[in-house]
Amino acid sequence: MRLIRAKDYQDASRKVANIISAQVILTPDCVLGLATGSSPLGAYSQLIQWCKKGDVDFSKTKTVNLDEYVGLSPVHEQSYSYFMHHNFFDHINIEPRNTHLPNGLVLDEEKECSRYDQVIRDLGGVDLQLLGIGENGHIGFNEPTNEFVTGTHKVDLTPSTIAANSRFFADKNMVPRQAYTMGMLDIMRAKRVVMIATGANKAQAVYDAFCGPVTPQMPASIMQLHPDFILVADEAALALVGDKL
Ligand code: F6R
Repeated sequence: MRLIRAKDYQDASRKVANIISAQVILTPDCVLGLATGSSPLGAYSQLIQWCKKGDVDFSKTKTVNLDEYVGLSPVHEQSYSYFMHHNFFDHINIEPRNTHLPNGLVLDEEKECSRYDQVIRDLGGVDLQLLGIGENGHIGFNEPTNEFVTGTHKVDLTPSTIAANSRFFADKNMVPRQAYTMGMLDIMRAKRVVMIATGANKAQAVYDAFCGPVTPQMPASIMQLHPDFILVADEAALALVGDKL
């Protein structure tokens, strides 16, 4: 793995945006694996600025998102589909038909998971996967568990994830309890993976994931085994790691 040290969130966002834009400039029809949450917002807003200036062109780019809440329609304001349109897709020159997310309204788990795995296969896999990291070490919504799950699957969100995500909802009881997520194999098969980790609340997860053993109890730790994994982290998130990486 490679570590890129950033000063703060803004610096980390710019560094991640640089990696993504380089990918799109070199391979305009590449497949980007994208994430939601607070971590990638700064990178998305930087990419929007560069796209508006004409420095990055997303017209041929395809995207697959990591996850979506079960039970929320794509136009629900807390759905990840809404998030992606509102914070990124609607502001860049990407073709809406080239953007893909799991459909939270399909309750038939087998049907939706195999459809989404097929979408990823049909695109030829992911060239560059962007990840955040949960405070409990989850990536996508692959929560700590006893085994790594390979393909797209439905997960029960842990109480810590529900609590962390409740900041986006008016009431904690409104946070969906389940989500569809890409599996570990989908993520590990991406040619390159970039993780952004910032803030003191990520320090323990970053330390456990990258200075500890590879274990499904700390899902992000599997990235230690990826041949082209880049961690972009700020000083606060690296507070426990120090010089160990
Ligand atoms: C969201 C996702 C999650 C987040 C993680 C961190 O698509 O995949 O794994 O990356 O929950 O969330 P933030 O960035 O809000 O701290």
